[in-house]
Amino acid sequence: MVMNNSRNHKYNGAIDRTQITPDKRYSVGAIGKLFVHDIFEGFPKEFLDANVVFIDVPYTIGDVKRYDIKADKDSGRMTYEIFLERIKYYLENMIKLRTVFIEVGKANVDKVITMLFSHFVNVKVYESTYYKKNLCYIVQAWNDEKDFIAIQDSKLDEVDVNENIIVTMDENDVICDFMNGRGLTSKNAFKYGRKFICSDMNVNRLAVAYEDIARKGGEILCDN
Ligand SMILES: C[S@@+](CC[C@H](N)C(=O)[O-])C[C@H]1O[C@@H](n2cnc3c(N)ncnc32)[C@H](O)[C@@H]1O
Repeated sequence: MVMNNSRNHKYNGAIDRTQITPDKRYSVGAIGKLFVHDIFEGFPKEFLDANVVFIDVPYTIGDVKRYDIKADKDSGRMTYEIFLERIKYYLENMIKLRTVFIEVGKANVDKVITMLFSHFVNVKVYESTYYKKNLCYIVQAWNDEKDFIAIQDSKLDEVDVNENIIVTMDENDVICDFMNGRGLTSKNAFKYGRKFICSDMNVNRLAVAYEDIARKGGEILCDN
């Protein structure tokens, strides 16, 4: 029987096959940045270049805590409201931001909408799925009409929505995913040659993203 304590979960050992460490920043050719970052730490200057955000957030406070355990973090007195406030703080600090897409489950879609309306004028909700079958939502927010990115409005899986955003955004847009995990956003941005800035607090998960790009021929260099 295989048993797995989620603390120190290694995601198939990608961390042991890559050079990634939590204290370094990495460049992917001339188009991408990858690094470990917890959003409860200081706002990274790299994010100032971002003008499109896609994040697939933990759907519930239970998920927040489970991801914390996997990253060896202590959630303390975390609530879902505190977690969303921190996301809002990041969005407010991205001074070039055109539009944001947040993937979330049914339990907290209303809280995400409320949070986005406290900073943006327009909010649009798309029905989506994860694992091709379970209902989730992609919530888009923007201020000026010119900043809206029109994506397919039919019910698509979140993986396809992410790809759709990346192929639809302007060629010079820079997509940021500060919960990039195993790398959906960085993978699609690399595939289409779009600029990206991607981070996650869990080095083991980000190692999967790193390894995937390296395997596809991406040149990844350490910046510091
Ligand atoms: C639903 S997963 C995202 C999955 C991602 N789209 C992928 O391709 O793997 C949520 C991610 O948020 C990250 N996360 C949770 N809390 C965080 C925090 N405080 N700072 C940065 N990342 C965090 C988790 O480590 C996890 O990878």
